[in-house]
Amino acid sequence: MTGAHGYGEYTTRLQALTTDVASGRPVQHHRLLASVDGEASEQLRRLVPLEYRRQVGAFFTPAPLKQCVSEMLESGVRSERYLDPACGSGDLLLAASHALPIRESLKETLEDWTDRLHGWDINSEFVEAARLRLLIAAILRHGYESQHGLRIPNASAYFANIVTRDGLEALRGQAAFAGHIVMNPPFGVVSSPLSRPWTSRPTSAAALFTYQAAHHLVEGSRLTAILPDVLRSGSRYSTWRAQVNKILIRSSLDTYGQFDEHADVDVFLLGAKVERQALSESSGEWWHTGDSAAVGSKSVDDFFVVRVGTVVDNRDPVEGPEFPFARARDLPPSGEISTPVRRRKFSRRVFEPPFVLVRRTSRPSTAQQESRLSGVLVTGQAPVAVDNHLIIASPRDGSIKSCRTLLKVLSSKPTSDWLDNRIRCRHLTVGAVREIPWTNT
Ligand SMILES: C[S@@+](CC[C@H](N)C(=O)[O-])C[C@H]1O[C@@H](n2cnc3c(N)ncnc32)[C@H](O)[C@@H]1O
Repeated sequence: MTGAHGYGEYTTRLQALTTDVASGRPVQHHRLLASVDGEASEQLRRLVPLEYRRQVGAFFTPAPLKQCVSEMLESGVRSERYLDPACGSGDLLLAASHALPIRESLKETLEDWTDRLHGWDINSEFVEAARLRLLIAAILRHGYESQHGLRIPNASAYFANIVTRDGLEALRGQAAFAGHIVMNPPFGVVSSPLSRPWTSRPTSAAALFTYQAAHHLVEGSRLTAILPDVLRSGSRYSTWRAQVNKILIRSSLDTYGQFDEHADVDVFLLGAKVERQALSESSGEWWHTGDSAAVGSKSVDDFFVVRVGTVVDNRDPVEGPEFPFARARDLPPSGEISTPVRRRKFSRRVFEPPFVLVRRTSRPSTAQQESRLSGVLVTGQAPVAVDNHLIIASPRDGSIKSCRTLLKVLSSKPTSDWLDNRIRCRHLTVGAVREIPWTNT
C-alpha cells in the first residue's frame, strides 16, 4: 500500500535522531521525549491523507488513553510478552514497555525487549516508526542525559518481531500466543468470512480483531483493548458478545467517552483473560464491571444522565448562535454558579441547566486531600455550551435539589474510596461517574 508513504518523512527524522544519539552527537532531550509522545500522531495527520487514514482506521492512541492502558498493564498481572496486531507507530507497545523492566545495559534491555515486544501493521512506514520509537524509549529509560554520548550497538538489529504483516491474517489459526495482546484495532466496517460466527453482513474490523485475538491467545493469556462503544452496547453485536463470552473472562470494562478531538467515536477499555468454556457470571453483562456497585443498589446513573461536553474548543468552528460557555479552567473548584461568564458561538448540542459539571481529570486521593472528586452546580436559565474536558450530569427529575445531593455524593469519602478502587485511570470516564454508588450522605 502506498497511502501511508508520506509518513516515511517522519521515520527518516526518527532515524536521524537515533543516528545522532548513536554517534554521540548531542540531542535535545525534549526532542526525544516528543518522539515517544504525541508527535507521531501529529505527523500522521500532517503527512497521511485523511481519506487513507479512514480507509485503514489509522488513528493512533492519544496520550490520555495510552496512560489508561499503561495503568491497566502496570496494575494487573505483568506479562512476559506483548503483541499489538495493528500496532501503528507503536503507542500501545510503548505503553507495554512501561510494564517491562530494564536490564544492566541498554544493549541487554534492547535484546530483552526484542524478545518480548511483538507488533504487526500493514503499513511498513508505521512499523519502522514503532521500532525507532521503542529504541528511543529504551534510551530514555536508561537516562539519556546522564549518559551523554550513549552508544547504541547496531540499532537496526532490534525489534525484529515488529513487522509489516496483515494482523487479521496472522491471528488466524490455532491458539499460538502466550502473553498479552494489547490493541486499538481499526474500527471501520468490513466484509469478511471471519465474521460468520456472529453475522454474514459487513461488520466492525474491531469486532473481527477482538474475536481473532481471543482465539489466537493460549489459555490464561490476557487481552487489553480499546474498542468502539457499539461493540459493548449495540444490539447488533449481541451475538458477537455472546461468542466472545465463551472465550474471555472480563476483568475490567471502562466506558471512556470520545476517542480524541480528531476522532468522534466513543470507546471503551476492555481488560480480559482467556478462559475457554468458563462462562462465568461476569461474562454475561457488558454494561458494568464486576467490581461496580452491588446488584440492586442505586448509582448516579439512576438519577442523572451523564455525558461528555460537546465543544472541542481548538477544533470546532466558532459559528452559530452564541451561548454561555463552560470550560474547566474557568470554573471554581467546587460549589455553585449561575451562568458561565465566557461566551462562544457553537452550532451543535448545548445543555439546559440545572446540571453538575465534573472535571475529567481526577487524581487518586492523597492523605492531604479528603475527596477525589468535586462538582460545580450550574443553576442559570440559559442553555450552555460545555467543553469536552468536562462531564455533565443532568438530573433526570430536572431539580436543583437532586444536583445538590449529587455534589455531596461526589465529594464524600465513600465516593473517593470507591473511585480509588474502581478506576485505574486518572482520566475519569463517563462509565465510572455513572456507576458511582448513590450513598446516603
Ligand atoms: C487505530 S490504529 C492503532 C495503532 C496503534 N495500535 C495505536 O494504538 O496507536 C490502527 C492501525 O491498524 C493498522 N491496520 C489496519 N488494518 C490492518 C490489518 N489488517 N492488519 C494490521 N494492521 C492493520 C493501520 O495501519 C493502523 O496503524
